[in-house]
Amino acid sequence: MRIVVLAGGRSSERQVSWVTGKACKRALEDLGHQVKLIDPEVDLPLRLWQEREAGCDFVWIALHGPGGEDGVVQGMLDWLGLPYQGSGRLASALAMDKLVSKQIFQTEGIPTPEWIAWDNQAPLPWAECVAALGSPLVIKPSNEGSTVGISIVEDEPSFTQGLQLARSVSSRILLERYIPGKEITLSILSGQILPAIEIIPAQGSFYDYEAKYAPGGSRHIIPCSLSPAGLARCEAAGLRAYQALGCEGLARVDLRVDAAENPWVLEVNTLPGMTPTSLCPDAAAALGWTFTELVERMLQEALQKASLTPAARTGSPLQESQN
Ligand SMILES: Nc1ncnc2c1ncn2[C@@H]1O[C@H](COP(=O)(O)OP(=O)(O)O)[C@@H](O)[C@H]1O
Ligand SMILES: [Mg+2]
Repeated sequence: MRIVVLAGGRSSERQVSWVTGKACKRALEDLGHQVKLIDPEVDLPLRLWQEREAGCDFVWIALHGPGGEDGVVQGMLDWLGLPYQGSGRLASALAMDKLVSKQIFQTEGIPTPEWIAWDNQAPLPWAECVAALGSPLVIKPSNEGSTVGISIVEDEPSFTQGLQLARSVSSRILLERYIPGKEITLSILSGQILPAIEIIPAQGSFYDYEAKYAPGGSRHIIPCSLSPAGLARCEAAGLRAYQALGCEGLARVDLRVDAAENPWVLEVNTLPGMTPTSLCPDAAAALGWTFTELVERMLQEALQKASLTPAARTGSPLQESQN
């Protein structure tokens, strides 16, 4: 097949996306495909159309964050009739927005930490937030990824600073109850839950940008240290979160697990990192799958889905109204 890999992009996760893209390109080539890497610019719609005309059969999205993971590119590919891996445009958009995701989790009875949404308009007194959510509390922009703009604060000055930081990234901000305990992530491939990973950041208890991407920034523990019952609760909550948002293909659910081993879903990542040291490839490795095998399964799932999707209809020419 002729495959275009989209990597890079314009989000704050551009660098990670590039590494993901190169690793996926290599795997797809090892599987015998002809692969071209494209770093999307403003002319992406035109380039994709040209690639389609030149015989491209499939687009592998290796973008992270807004403009890649949020449904925008997925919608463009739907319009062009080009198949791609992973979630469709609606699930991508829902998952990218932490606030909307949490509203859906709440409606579906999926445990997620209590929160207050702030639209940056009325003043937000620290004392009221602490009364509602306790301290420390977490401040997050509603629609960024990779811990950009997130703060964990326990006093008024850092609260004010944290709000400012989140505001510089998004106009919609989420204040969330801090869940002490373990950090668990679940990779789910088309409904199959891969082994849970417990993440231990090298410093502090915050899985921040450094911990995520710096060499030695965190340790991935497989199997995780939860009891079988705790793990089962975690897996049930993670799978329901994946399903509630309508995810497809590979996605990764981030959770906190408290001292009583109750899971709390933080978010769903619809285009999780696929660098050789990322979490999903690690979970796959625990099942004995190589990186290339994981990519192959993702591709096969996507092709199967595409074969089940009705072909785009071409309309008949419009007639001038008779009336
Ligand atoms: N409510 C919370 N309680 C405890 N830690 C949290 C909470 N929310 C976020 N964190 C920490 O911040 C990290 C990033 O938060 P997350 O919601 O997954 O956003 P993203 O990964 O998109 O930046 C988590 O992996 C966790 O370490
Ligand atoms: Mg996360």
